[in-house]
Amino acid sequence: MFVDLEERIRKEEKISSFINNVVILEKIDSTNSYAKQLKDQVDGTLIVAKEQTQGRGRNNRTWKSFGEKNLTFSLIVNYPEDKEALGLFSLLSANSVAATIEELGLIPEIKWPNDILINSRKVSGVLCEAVFDNNKPRSLIIGIGLNVNSNKDDFYSDDFVYRLEPTSLSIEGNKEYSSNNLLVILIRNLINWITLFKLKKYETILSFWRSRWIDIGSELVVTQDQMMLKGNAIDINSKGELLFLEKETKKVHVLNSGELLT
Ligand code: BTN
Repeated sequence: MFVDLEERIRKEEKISSFINNVVILEKIDSTNSYAKQLKDQVDGTLIVAKEQTQGRGRNNRTWKSFGEKNLTFSLIVNYPEDKEALGLFSLLSANSVAATIEELGLIPEIKWPNDILINSRKVSGVLCEAVFDNNKPRSLIIGIGLNVNSNKDDFYSDDFVYRLEPTSLSIEGNKEYSSNNLLVILIRNLINWITLFKLKKYETILSFWRSRWIDIGSELVVTQDQMMLKGNAIDINSKGELLFLEKETKKVHVLNSGELLT
């Protein structure tokens, strides 16, 4: 697994000019945690794990990845200069996974902010985390988990409770996929979307994301100031925040990604 990854990255100019460092780990608790503790936060460092034992998801959830069957990696990038648009990183990461799935001929669906589903089942998740240096944000870590070849028996081999029913590309596409190839495609797409961000093509990021968004209009439960609110997702704004119409008060709340329960 990943035998020729570095060579393929080196050969493709667009990727090699962006990826400055590749770390392939046999076994690690979490690629995001590994990236966070690196002293030198070199822009364009890619950390790939063959096996991730304590994968972390959003809102302190667990991300299960079943060894070499699935992809788990993190990319370190310099903290974006345009802080106003930071929330878009979450969305552009989801876009890059969605674009990769479309290249396989499958149809991705996105749940705000960055759950990626196929046929209403979750196939991938993204965890973006900031690293601070003397209280100043220094880099952004984009962690992506993509279920490639795991099957139903893997997912349900213990009594783990999933928030969303899980699936994999091989379940949905009815064949095995090469994790190595997929990683190259995914990195290529991620670089394309980050480049669009750097060019401030924010509307392109938002409209691609919106057109694959499935929970628009659907009823959601969110937390705000320790209160649970029921309502509907009505749109996202230019910062990638969710506009949420509370049912009872008819008030529109602007939510960041930590506040969604269902
Ligand atoms: C979510 O859906 O809640 C996000 C899941 C993110 C999982 C990836 S796997 C690689 C990276 N390392 C982690 O510990 N988490 C992310």
